[in-house]
Amino acid sequence: MTAVRPDFTIEQNWQGYSGEEHAIWRLLFERQQRLLLARACREYLEGLSGLGVAADGIPDFRRLSDILNRATGWRIVAVPGLVPDDVFFAHLARRQFPSTCFVRRRDQLDYLQEPDVFHDICGHVPLLMNPVFADYMQAYGEGGSKALGLGHLQRLARLYWYTVEFGLIATEAGLRIYGSGILSSAGESIYCLEDPRPRRLRFDLRRIMRTRYRIDDYQQLYFVIDDFQELFDATSPDFAPIYREIAVLPDLEPTAHIDCDLEFDAGRRKKNWATHQRGPSLGRKRLEDVRQDHNR
Ligand code: PHE
Ligand code: CO
Repeated sequence: MTAVRPDFTIEQNWQGYSGEEHAIWRLLFERQQRLLLARACREYLEGLSGLGVAADGIPDFRRLSDILNRATGWRIVAVPGLVPDDVFFAHLARRQFPSTCFVRRRDQLDYLQEPDVFHDICGHVPLLMNPVFADYMQAYGEGGSKALGLGHLQRLARLYWYTVEFGLIATEAGLRIYGSGILSSAGESIYCLEDPRPRRLRFDLRRIMRTRYRIDDYQQLYFVIDDFQELFDATSPDFAPIYREIAVLPDLEPTAHIDCDLEFDAGRRKKNWATHQRGPSLGRKRLEDVRQDHNR
């Protein structure tokens, strides 16, 4: 039966899925497949085909883990739902991705607040086939235990939210999706790229750590990276002094505008960043801004 082990893992019990559960997976998979071919980033689509996750039904985690393990050393472990933060971080640090097993109901096809097997497997796992992203996720797990100890979990959680869950990436062909929360949502995978309402800002570690997020609706704000190497490099410095620096600054709402914001222009081309500065900036220039000036 579903005995929960001390590390919160369970058996997936693949044999136990019903025909209806596999049918719901197929519905979700086929719909996303159509939407994502021109919207997901290349790394995601490559991971998906490398894993052979297909429309035939909910995959067996053991089969996926074997492929994933050969590619980047990651495995999938089954969990009953959200696990405690420290347990989650410990799994990531050991290159184990905790995935839920249950699939949403037919009346929940369009939006679900908690993760299900479709979100975890089709949203997260394909990117773990990418070596740089795989390293980022492990580093995040290690950073998670550290943030817990320092009392700054909330700031680190915002980084996860605005990258792993809702990140966008600028490519030569235009904006693409890498955030798993978007990749597993039919509505948001269109909205995040094509709707004029949400803002799309240049990735900025400190700004992200200061920005609240909402979990009950499409995002009003996305952050855009140039590539996974940039994400890895920007997050590799010691966060302890950064947490202290940010702790004295006010939190920002997703709708807030601040002077250092760089907007992605119209979602068309790479490195098309525009500042919308209203009046002179009062704050001292941060290192990132100086670096960006040099790159102009
Ligand atoms: N560099 C971070 C720290 O020192 C750890 C981390 C890496 C966090 C990557 C998130 C992502 O705490
Ligand atoms: Co997720």
